[in-house]
Amino acid sequence: ARAEKGGYAHFMLKEIHEQPQALRDTLRGRLSPDGRRVTLPEVGLTPEEVRRLRKVALVACGTASHAGLVGRYLIERLAGIPVEWDVASEYRYRDPMLGPDSLFVAISQSGETADTLAALREARAKGAKVLAIVNVVGSSIAREADWALHTWAGPEIAVASTKAYTTQLVAVTLLAVWLGQAAGRLDEDGAARILAALRDLPAQAEQVLAQEAEVQRVASDLARHDDVFFIGRGLDYAVALEGQLKLKEISYIHAEAYPAGELKHGTLALITKGVPVVALSTQPALAPKTLSNIQEVRARGAAVIAVALEGDEQVPRHADTVFTIPRTDPLVAPALAVIPLQLLAYYAAVLRGHDVDRPRNLAKSVTVE
Ligand code: G6P
Repeated sequence: ARAEKGGYAHFMLKEIHEQPQALRDTLRGRLSPDGRRVTLPEVGLTPEEVRRLRKVALVACGTASHAGLVGRYLIERLAGIPVEWDVASEYRYRDPMLGPDSLFVAISQSGETADTLAALREARAKGAKVLAIVNVVGSSIAREADWALHTWAGPEIAVASTKAYTTQLVAVTLLAVWLGQAAGRLDEDGAARILAALRDLPAQAEQVLAQEAEVQRVASDLARHDDVFFIGRGLDYAVALEGQLKLKEISYIHAEAYPAGELKHGTLALITKGVPVVALSTQPALAPKTLSNIQEVRARGAAVIAVALEGDEQVPRHADTVFTIPRTDPLVAPALAVIPLQLLAYYAAVLRGHDVDRPRNLAKSVTVE
């Protein structure tokens, strides 16, 4: 059984370690040789149509929805197009306003999630242009969209999604740069900075994976707790959502992600002595404010596990443990910041004795609404 898992104890651990390769595969052929443009021949919008877009809607479930939230920040920032973000199961209840000037983007690993497919059909019926970011070639979502932008994560077996998520992050980043260039909002120097960061991403992911033993040690502490909080601002909040989902899914530890600035409006009441708080601080522009939130929870006795940039001098002074990620473009940081959180959830689940690859009550692909 270990053989089919490439020598790893579980598919999830194997898939976590496959991320550098999956990221490379998803980038392959999509950056121009001079590194200044993105080429996505699979997306059939003309530059004229991109300039006419009045909105982008990003819709997905579970982990894929967390990739969508990152996409929202990136597309608004780089392409200047307003973005709506919804979980697919709620989407139709809003009677969403979509038309020929909308780009609807469904994100899905399996391409078979019923809620996402239903949202996609609604978008088509309303005349929106429909793009699927999907891992499984030939899946329903890939077939029913106008265009499919594939992630090349390879087969993902573990129920808890890991390499599909990080490749979805690459896909939404490529899409955001592509839209920004087509819309005439992002110049080649600006694109080149982000694309250089993407090119470095696989090797940097290897560096983050090298902290595995340290993460495992922290997980043995974490596994003893029943409530864990995740905080961050901006893109770090999006990653916090994914980190808490990973922990819940497989370790069955109650976990909650909160925008760091929103803590004081309720959740702070739950922060007492010894409560673990995973704090993400990978966005330099937001670091001072996040730092004050870290101090706030620390002052109430929280045990702070931080994810920070290499060379950050402030966060380590206020955290009990720090996992670091290499310096990169802030827009690309989520794909690195999530890795310690995936490992943390994995080891906490193993220590609690759970069936990591097949958590109770959950399915890999949910084909009922
Ligand atoms: C299930 C899986 C999750 C996944 C979600 C969306 O809940 O357990 O890991 O994120 O479905 O799946 P999809 O295949 O559409 O990305």
